[in-house]
Amino acid sequence: MNTLDIVILAAGQGSRMKSSLPKVLHTIGGKPMLQHVIDAAAELNNSQTHVVTGHGAEQVETALAGQPVKFALQAEQLGTGHAVAQAMPEVSSDSVVLVLYGDVPLTRTETMAELVAIAERGQFGLLTVNLEDPTGYGRIVRSDVGDVVAIVEHKDANPEQLAITEVNTGILSVPAALLQEWIPQLSSNNAQGEYYLTDIIAMAAEQGVSIKAIQPATEQEVQGVNNRLQQAELERWYQRQQAERLMVEGVSLADPARLDIRGEVSVGHDVQIDVNVILEGQVTIGDNVIIESNCIIRDSVIGSGSHIKANSLLEEAQLAEQCDVGPYARLRPGSQLAVKAKVGNFVETKKALIGEGSKVNHLTYIGDAEIGTGVNVGAGTITCNYDGVNKSKTVIGDGAFIGSNSSLVAPVNVGAGATVGAGSTISKDVADDQLAVTRAKQANINNWQRPTKKDPQKG
Ligand code: UD1
Ligand code: CA
Repeated sequence: MNTLDIVILAAGQGSRMKSSLPKVLHTIGGKPMLQHVIDAAAELNNSQTHVVTGHGAEQVETALAGQPVKFALQAEQLGTGHAVAQAMPEVSSDSVVLVLYGDVPLTRTETMAELVAIAERGQFGLLTVNLEDPTGYGRIVRSDVGDVVAIVEHKDANPEQLAITEVNTGILSVPAALLQEWIPQLSSNNAQGEYYLTDIIAMAAEQGVSIKAIQPATEQEVQGVNNRLQQAELERWYQRQQAERLMVEGVSLADPARLDIRGEVSVGHDVQIDVNVILEGQVTIGDNVIIESNCIIRDSVIGSGSHIKANSLLEEAQLAEQCDVGPYARLRPGSQLAVKAKVGNFVETKKALIGEGSKVNHLTYIGDAEIGTGVNVGAGTITCNYDGVNKSKTVIGDGAFIGSNSSLVAPVNVGAGATVGAGSTISKDVADDQLAVTRAKQANINNWQRPTKKDPQKG
């Protein structure tokens, strides 16, 4: 049995986003806003999350497929009270209801927990905030002794109420039994013709239910996103928080405003990150790592002491300690570098194991390959892993030397200690310590005359 039902409102159209994507699926830090809310709420114990969908319901359900949330469809958007009502059949009367907004992405779990604790005591928990410009928001009306007695929507407020700067964030918690009693009493007799959830405040006050208003730690925690400008502003604030966390954990950032984190990043000490770096997905960075400017690192592990030089792109790559990558390297999924491996400029790797101390330094493609330790792969080497239908593997033994501009036609093995002469096309296995050369013998021709320029008159 749940003791907490979390109702996330996500049915609104978000027309000011001017987007075919439902508003709640627009992202902050690479994650849909609604997912931020779900993830923060998931930290609360014994809870069931209900998402109220409406506009773009199918897209929202698809985006959340497989997650332990229930959906309640609000076919017509008749107001926040009507939205919460759609989830009520799934809510049991002995639980507590926490109402959250799918377009208010950064509400912290701690704030939610505080509200829940209030409702667990049988009281009404309300999250309010003081805004310099309260335009558009519901105003918190208090009695002479300071008790909250009502919320009046901007469009329904009188001049005196409009002057109130304490506003409703929309986020609240209440014992389910009270909500079940109040929701049927809501009417749409107001300026917007909507069923306002906020009308339950006055019902609570009338009934003598104690209303406890708390405030968030920052305004951004309750900031809703209605257009792309607000989205960008919140994104910048969120990124600043991420950058501050990394700095506190021992990372030097050349410019905290020029790092973007779109995922979960764990870092060691004495990491240096230059400007315009993007870290996406799950990224783990060891101690003493240097990341130069303009790198994108996605779902990768970077071992301690590694150096990622400028303009490199790493995706699902695993680097052991003291690796060197770039500048201008592209490590695609399944690239694994052992200790002290080097992948240099204009090198692309994919599903490639590069052994300890091995070097692939220039203008090379290594795909579907296993390279042993201490191997040198010369400039312009290509593993020809694809015949147009199938992918095949190249295996290079320890200590081998691949001369520049070689093609290794997979499936093929080059033995340990073997040498491939520059410019060779290797399509047969080379045994340990052999030299393989496939290029034509060089012919030096004496008395060679260069062509002379034709006389244009003669045509
Ligand atoms: C609401 C509050 C207001 C508060 C403001 C904070 C009411 C009546 N008013 O106002 O006091 O200051 O939020 O932003 O509650 N939604 C639905 N179905 C609906 C209507 C809304 O799911 O039928 C969702 C929206 O998608 C949105 C949230 O509820 O996520 C708030 O709706 P919105 O229209 O923005 O509320 P406001 O009228 O701005
Ligand atoms: Ca709003």
